[in-house]
Parts: sequence; structure tokens; C-alpha cells
Amino acid sequence: MTNKLTSFLAERKKTIENQLSVYTEKLDMPDSLKKSMLYSLEAGGKRLRPLIVLAVLNAYGKSEKDGIPVGCAVEMIHTYSLIHDDLPCMDDDDLRRGKPTNHKVFGEATAVLAGDGLLTESFKLITSHVSDEVSAEKRLRLVNELISAAGTEGMVGGQVADMEAENRQVTLEELESIHERKTAKLLGFCVIAGAILADAPEEDIETLRTFSSHIGIGFQIRDDILDLEGSEEKIGKRVGSDTTNDKSTYPSLLSLEGAKHKLDVHINEAKRLIGGLSLQKDLLFELCDLIAARDH
Ligand code: IPE
Ligand code: IPE
Ligand code: MG
Ligand code: MG
Ligand code: MG
Repeated sequence: MTNKLTSFLAERKKTIENQLSVYTEKLDMPDSLKKSMLYSLEAGGKRLRPLIVLAVLNAYGKSEKDGIPVGCAVEMIHTYSLIHDDLPCMDDDDLRRGKPTNHKVFGEATAVLAGDGLLTESFKLITSHVSDEVSAEKRLRLVNELISAAGTEGMVGGQVADMEAENRQVTLEELESIHERKTAKLLGFCVIAGAILADAPEEDIETLRTFSSHIGIGFQIRDDILDLEGSEEKIGKRVGSDTTNDKSTYPSLLSLEGAKHKLDVHINEAKRLIGGLSLQKDLLFELCDLIAARDH
């Protein structure tokens, strides 16, 4: 990670993690459920999604304050998606964020319900934990965007398409659509949420949607590459999981070299799109480079 982005993230990571823990601690629920939710929330992770919300606000020169609860809401949904993704009925993984997966520690039923809890409680961070400066109309817009990104038209639908693409050859078009839905849409929400909170012009928001699609697909291509040539220590998950599950991935379809080339194409296009907007570009350019070159 380059310097400006590293320090930007380091400075904000604690605030994000603190908010995630404090918010969840305060919720009234059975002890076992809370332990399970906090286990996965506090296991670490890059916190890239909240960081993107804040980076977009920063790029527009706006206060990042309301980006924190909105970013935490996405991080809760992302964490739920990882708990469910690791279940035996899905990718059947036993290591996540460098620790045993949620169901290995708490059992499958609690892991499913911890995911359900994280998903449902996330929305209140947007509806009730942003400042009064965020109008009811804007909150509603954010919630609608999040539903489109995380629900059947986004992540959930993408996860189903991903499962249905196991053990068979898919076209590049189909694979792009899977990556778009299972990963890019939620990352895209973070960009769009930052822009909505920053009162960005509507034309910018449309360009940012296309930008998000490129960085999001690029992010998942890099994830596919790391599944083959990453280090278990660094990625905190088992290497070779996709091969074991006979997943359709960019490297399986295009070869490792072809996948790396495709990643570059998406990242370059993302940078070109950002280049045309009037905002502070440094952090967003660095974010593109990080997505292309990340080792975890
Ligand atoms: C992993 O996401 C799942 C994908 C969508 C590829 P991250 O790589 O952001 O995982 P954490 O949050 O850092 O653990
Ligand atoms: C999952 O993609 C994306 C999600 C919506 C969770 P992967 O199955 O490749 O994610 P990892 O590699 O297990 O983190
Ligand atoms: Mg998966
Ligand atoms: Mg997985
Ligand atoms: Mg993966």
C-alpha cells in the first residue's frame, strides 16, 4: 500500500473498529449470538469498504463524519456475507481473517443467525446513527442503494450464480456478471454512498457507478489470483479453496496471466474514469493501485 492511503486507513481504522464493537455490544440479544457476531467483526480484515466511503467524502473535500456509520453498516453486511460464504453448504472453509471460521467455533446454526443479525442490524446505522445533517430523503436513498447492492440483484444473487457456476465452463460475460454482483455491487455502494453524502453532482454519480464496477470486478479478480498464488499467512484464508470447489474464476477461465491482464484493463479504465471528474484524485488513484497489487 502506498503512503497516503496507508496513513489514511491507519488513522481511521480504529474509529471504524471501535464503532463496530460499541454498536454491536449495545444491542440486546442472547450472549452466544453476540459473541459470534463480535468474533467475526473483531477478527480484523482490511476494512476497505468503510475506507472507500471515507475516501470519496475526502475526495470531495467534505466531512467524513457521517461516512463512519454508513461504512460500518457495509462492513457488517460484508462480514455476514463472509460468515455465510464459509459455511459447509457454501465454500466450506475453515480459516477466515487468520482465525477459524465462525461456524467452526460457534456451530452452523449460530453462524447462520450471526449473519442474519449482522445483516438486519446494519440498516439502523444508516437510518438512526448518522447526524441530523443527513435528511430523511438521503437516508432513504442510501438504504435503497444498499438493498440493491446487497440483495438479490447484487451480492446474494451473485453468490447463487457463483455456486451455480461450479464444475462447469462459463463464458467471460457470465463470469463478469457473477463478479459484478457478488463483489462489485457492494464495493460500489461504498463509492456511491460517499458521493451521496458529499452531495456530488448526479453526473458524477453515474460515472462513479461505472468506476465502481471496474474496481469491484478488479478486486474479485485479484481475490481469485490470491487464491492461487497468495500466502495463507497474509490472506488469512486457505490458498486453493477455489480449485478444491472447482469454482469458475478468472484464472481458471483465462489462465493466471490472462487474469492479470484483465485486472490491469479494469484498473486502467477505472483510473481513466476518475481522471475526468473534478475532485481530489490522489487517494482514489492509490486505491486503484492497491486493488491491483494487494497481497491480502
Ligand atoms: C473478501 O473480501 C471477499 C471478497 C468479496 C473477495 P475482503 O478481501 O475485503 O476481506 P476482508 O474484509 O479484508 O477480510
Ligand atoms: C465471495 O467470494 C464474495 C462474497 C460475497 C463473500 P469468495 O468466496 O471468493 O471470497 P473468499 O475468497 O472466500 O473471501
Ligand atoms: Mg464464495
Ligand atoms: Mg469463499
Ligand atoms: Mg476468493
